[in-house]
Amino acid sequence: MKRIAVCPGSFDPITYGHLDIIRRASMLFDEVVVLISVNALKTPSFTESERMMMIRENTQEFSNVVIDVLDGLLADYVQKIGAIAIVKGLRAVSDFEYEFQMALANKKLYNGAETVFLTTSSENMYLSSSVVKQIAYFGGDISHFVPENVLDFIRKRLVKE
Ligand code: PNS
Repeated sequence: MKRIAVCPGSFDPITYGHLDIIRRASMLFDEVVVLISVNALKTPSFTESERMMMIRENTQEFSNVVIDVLDGLLADYVQKIGAIAIVKGLRAVSDFEYEFQMALANKKLYNGAETVFLTTSSENMYLSSSVVKQIAYFGGDISHFVPENVLDFIRKRLVKE
């Protein structure tokens, strides 16, 4: 049986931090679904198809990574595809409470999968899509945080004139 993991997130946009987690998850599981999901607390800067494009170009090298979009509950999706794990990256203690809450809620909704936390690499500790967007807005250099094609999307959408 294929051991499938789901990597959910807003990916608005994808950063080197996300890519590091996806790459490491791809070594642990037979298949990894990068799942563009709706975070009801955030208004996205990029459309689903833009986010999909940005992810696709940067995950082509991983033969067992696929991308999908979710407009519903993560727990339902995980159950539907028979995934055994939800993989998240943990940066700092500040992530923990929110992630712990989501992990428990997802477990309550569907008991058949485990949430697995991968510790973020030290160089990505401070990295988040919203930090990247704020630096970009004011013309700062974000080339160390996101891949080239994401830079192009950000320049066109977010950089203040
Ligand atoms: O990258 P983010 O914004 O921190 O990711 C949060 C996300 C998208 C994974 C979370 O909001 C989510 O799982 N959304 C799907 C809808 C859902 O199942 N919500 C309840 C989670 S307990």
